[in-house]
Amino acid sequence: MSSQDIPEDKHLPSEQGDAHHGAVAVADDPFADPGLPVHKPRIQDIDERAAKRSERTVAMLFTLSMLATVGFIASYVSIPVDKIIYVFPIGKVSALNFALGLTLGVALFCIGAGAVHWARTLMSDVEVADDRHEIAAPADVKAKVMQDFADGANESGIARRPLIRNTMLGALALVPLSGVMLLRDLGPLPEKKLRKTVWSKGKLIINQNTMEPLRPEDVLVGSLTFAMPEGLEEDQHDFQVQIAKAALMLVRIKPEDIKDKQELEWSHEGIVAYSKICTHVGCPISLYEQQTHHVLCPCHQSTFDLSDGARVIFGPAGHALPQLRIGVNDEGFLEALGDFEEPVGPAFWERG
Ligand code: FES
Repeated sequence: MSSQDIPEDKHLPSEQGDAHHGAVAVADDPFADPGLPVHKPRIQDIDERAAKRSERTVAMLFTLSMLATVGFIASYVSIPVDKIIYVFPIGKVSALNFALGLTLGVALFCIGAGAVHWARTLMSDVEVADDRHEIAAPADVKAKVMQDFADGANESGIARRPLIRNTMLGALALVPLSGVMLLRDLGPLPEKKLRKTVWSKGKLIINQNTMEPLRPEDVLVGSLTFAMPEGLEEDQHDFQVQIAKAALMLVRIKPEDIKDKQELEWSHEGIVAYSKICTHVGCPISLYEQQTHHVLCPCHQSTFDLSDGARVIFGPAGHALPQLRIGVNDEGFLEALGDFEEPVGPAFWERG
C-alpha cells in the first residue's frame, strides 16, 4: 500500500518522538502505521559504571583477537607440518592445521563478538526512519561529480605525463601476477597420471574378494566379478589413488551375444573386462543384470550395455566404459594385454 492509499482522516502517528507511538490505538483501523516503538534506555545509557564494564569487555575481546593472531603466526612458523596430535573428540589431527584453525577462528570470532557487543551496548540505539528518495542523483550533482573528475585528471597531469601513465598501467596490470604465482602452492600438475593406470601387459587380474589370480573358469556366466591388478597392496601409500583408476569388473557373456566387434576381440572366451568407474562423475558401478548384460551405476542410474561395447543406454554418463584388453598367460591365468586405451572415469579428463 502506498502513502496515497492511506485515508487522510485516520489516526496516523505524527512524529517519531511522540511518547505514545508504541501505544497508538488503532482499534478502528487495523492497517494504520503503528510507528516506532517507545525508546527504552539501556543500563549502559543511565549507569556510567555499566558503560565502562561494556567498554572493558569489548576491549578484552579485541585484545584476545590480537593475541590469537599472534598465536596464528607463531604456530605457522614453529609447528612442524608432519606433527600429529590427539584432540578429543575429533581424534588424531595435524597439529599445525589444528592450531591455525583454532587461532584464526578465535581471532575472527573475537572481532565479531566485540563489534556486536559494542553496537548493542554502547552505540546509539535510537531508531530512525528515513523516507525513500530518488535513487538517481540530481542533474547538478552529476555535473559537479563529472567536473570534479575532470579537474582531478587535469591536476594529476596524467594526460601530460604519458611516462607516468603508462608505467602505472603496466604496474597495475602486472600486480595480479603475484596472486597467480601463488597458485603454484597448489602442487605440481597431474601430467599424465590421470590418463594412465597401473594396468600393463602381463599384469595378472586379481579377484578383489579372494585376492587370488583369476582363471577363466572362475568367471561364471551371469556373475559380476570385481578385480584389481597384481602388485597393488592395500597398505601401499597410494593404494586408494591407484585402485580408483584401475578397478575392474569382469563378466562372461556368450561370444555370440557380444554385438561389438572390438569388444569380442578384446575379450577371452566371452569374458569381458571393463573399468568399474562410472564415466559420469566416477562412482563405482555395482549392479549387473545378467539377462540383459546391463550394468547400473547406483549414483545417478547411468546404465551401460556390456554386450555392446558398454555404451550408455540410459542416464547422464557421457560415454561408454573403457574396456581392458585381456588374455590368458602360459599358466592359465587371466592377464591384461596393456593399459586402458582411454582415460577412465568422467569425461573431463579426456578433454583436459
Ligand atoms: S556417477 Fe554414475 S551415473 Fe552419476
